[in-house]
Amino acid sequence: MVRQQSIAKSSTIIPSFYLHEVNAEAKSQQTRAFALMEHIQKNTITRPSVIGNLKAMRLPRIRYISKFHNAGCMTDKKNAKKVPVAPSAFDYAHQHSRDIVWMSQNTNQIPVSDVIDRAILKAVKDREYNLYPRSNGIFGLCEVVSKHLDLPKDYKVLLTNGAIEATYILTRALIKKGDQVICTDPSFMPIHHQIKISGGKPVEIPVYRKPWKLTPEWIRDAITPKTKMILLIDPLNPLGTAYTRAEIKEICEIAEEHDLLIIDDVTYRDFSDPHPTYKYAPDRTIVDYTFSKQCGLAGMRIGALAAPPELMEKMMPYNTNVLSVNILAQRAAHAAMECIDSWLPALRKQLLENQRIIKDSVDSVKGCFLPVYPSRTNMFAIDIGKTGVDPDDLQNTLLYDYGVFIRSGKYVSKTYGKDFIRVSFSVTEEGAEKFADAFPKAIAKLRKSGK
Ligand SMILES: Cc1ncc(COP(=O)(O)O)c(C=O)c1O
Repeated sequence: MVRQQSIAKSSTIIPSFYLHEVNAEAKSQQTRAFALMEHIQKNTITRPSVIGNLKAMRLPRIRYISKFHNAGCMTDKKNAKKVPVAPSAFDYAHQHSRDIVWMSQNTNQIPVSDVIDRAILKAVKDREYNLYPRSNGIFGLCEVVSKHLDLPKDYKVLLTNGAIEATYILTRALIKKGDQVICTDPSFMPIHHQIKISGGKPVEIPVYRKPWKLTPEWIRDAITPKTKMILLIDPLNPLGTAYTRAEIKEICEIAEEHDLLIIDDVTYRDFSDPHPTYKYAPDRTIVDYTFSKQCGLAGMRIGALAAPPELMEKMMPYNTNVLSVNILAQRAAHAAMECIDSWLPALRKQLLENQRIIKDSVDSVKGCFLPVYPSRTNMFAIDIGKTGVDPDDLQNTLLYDYGVFIRSGKYVSKTYGKDFIRVSFSVTEEGAEKFADAFPKAIAKLRKSGK
């Protein structure tokens, strides 16, 4: 409890820093932690000095302070540099969430089906939350996931707190010190962080270039005797590229040749027509799936890990959910999945329309282009490199002046992030139009101000 309160409170006191792992027994630590946060707020402070302060204040159980806005436990030990305290776009966006168009996290805000609300309300009315859920999840949910993904018959499914916990469990269990994992840059970086904290090294292949995704050839070139795994995000966050059947087959062959595991991150697969690796390399694939994006259940925090029995057995000791995951989330996910065929086509149609609206706007601005169009998922990157505008400034201007929340490319790529923004378009059509109207104006404004 103390930990949760601390995070919530710290985010209002000091938006840019978050506490992790506060000792739950020591209530007084909380008070001292807040004092420390105030101190940090007043000063630009280095990471070693933060750690020094933690020790001096006898707060050894607060292990890290992170500069990531929505960090949870995502911290980067390399942050031993000066981190200026700046207002958090996320705190602002959350405070004004009713009024802004939320295009920053690839979530879906287009209502999909009222059966979800009804299932949640029924579970509340029945006070299902009084009991721990069944450890394998509510009857039928894992089965519906397995059927929907068309998993190999022997695959085991484990429910998790979002796909992010699935990748945490699998990286913890299967990566050992010195292992290399072939990844992309740009990418969904929290998984790279998970690889690092397990002692592994994400080998980031630059894909901010044609064909805007991994190629079998680049993968081959990156393989060393230490390579253990390939992280395949398909479709790829943030670019919106998807892999062809032939590419997937070849990637699976490479995995076979070099005895590699594959993380098949199918977070965005429902927006695409995927060719999962478990069709071609069932013995060496581990799948992470989520209900956050397509079903619009990001706030529920529910996802799944799936793998063949031998790999699942290796991962189970790292399963933190021996008492299962949130019952309301399970009910919501189950309700959504049971009727997915009735709502998914309309959602995908709207996404195509929203992309078109945004493309017209992007095309009207000199120096901007869409590396990938149409995107095969619910987001894409907009290249602004030639405008001279910084994506952080564009993110802030769109948010604070126009009420549209997008993401600076720097969140998904240290190297290429300065050249693009990432925009999720699973918002209402009015939302997409609001972005389309604001984007040229924001760029013009920033160009004029010389930013
Ligand atoms: C590629 C990828 N994997 C995993 C996740 C985590 O999703 P969640 O934890 O909401 O299920 C995300 C979220 O943005 C993602 O983009």
